[in-house]
Amino acid sequence: MTAPTPDNGAEPDRVPTPEDAAEPDRAPTPDNPEEQVSQAAVVDRSDHLAGAEKALLRADELYAGYIPGVNILNGADLYVKKGELIGIIGPNGAGKSTLLKTLFGLVPVRSGSVILNGEDITSLKAHSLVARGVGYVPQTNNVFPSLTIEENLEMGAYQVPGKFKERFEFVCEIFPALRERRKQRAGSLSGGERQMVAMGRALMTEPSVLLLDEPSAGLSPKLQDLVFIQAQQINKAGVTVIMVEQNARRCLQICHRGYVLDQGRNAYMASGSDLINDPKVIQLYLGTLARA
Ligand SMILES: Nc1ncnc2c1ncn2[C@@H]1O[C@H](COP(=O)(O)OP(=O)(O)O)[C@@H](O)[C@H]1O
Ligand SMILES: [Mg+2]
Repeated sequence: MTAPTPDNGAEPDRVPTPEDAAEPDRAPTPDNPEEQVSQAAVVDRSDHLAGAEKALLRADELYAGYIPGVNILNGADLYVKKGELIGIIGPNGAGKSTLLKTLFGLVPVRSGSVILNGEDITSLKAHSLVARGVGYVPQTNNVFPSLTIEENLEMGAYQVPGKFKERFEFVCEIFPALRERRKQRAGSLSGGERQMVAMGRALMTEPSVLLLDEPSAGLSPKLQDLVFIQAQQINKAGVTVIMVEQNARRCLQICHRGYVLDQGRNAYMASGSDLINDPKVIQLYLGTLARA
């Protein structure tokens, strides 16, 4: 049986639109980049291989894409250790969402592997992954608008029968507003509240690792800040988190470790604080945000 996620399809047949091909969101390249020494640049895979050894989830040399012959992921590596909160940043179109979708079985893997807790889960379908403790919150269409908050959470609990009450309490500890408004239809909620419902729904299945795709996108600065705090709370409650973010600076501030993805492969990997202070990362990927 397939889990009733609102984003079951990866739209595999969609032709890229002009918006998809928008210019990468990057600051101008410096005139003398050679003078800027970067500690975090990925020159070989040794950091990945060393770190991934005891990872909860690891992806090695992933190649994946939507259209035959066109790879969007070009050898991306990623690992997350139990209890970590990791961030993935990078220009528009770098393949960040594709990476999360690939981890969640929504984009076919052409080569490479995904391992969870030592088990090869490459290309398993989303519902099997949910059963193994992977949760996923897509960037858009992530709630059922015609259902109430409570019904959305019940849909989330579909694969853990008998656990609704316990999971509902867990979710409401993190998002108290959901309890108060449980009878309200998700379609009538603000963007920030919907995001809480979407994250809450994914948490109902008791995931050990949660994939969040741009949870702060489209929210006011105040609500964005709240989303980052909530992601940290989710992590502190014992859930390993992989977070893709367009608010790169804020993401790097809260994550234990970060990746910069560019053209479907790793450009940088280091602790959030190292990345945020790396001159090349600032110039290439953080742009004016770096001075905020
Ligand atoms: N469903 C799809 N079908 C075909 N191409 C897609 C689809 N989704 C994304 N792409 C293409 O994959 C590339 C990476 O997109 P995406 O992973 O969404 O990037 P990011 O999340 O880093 O902005 C883009 O060139 C985009 O046009
Ligand atoms: Mg994206």
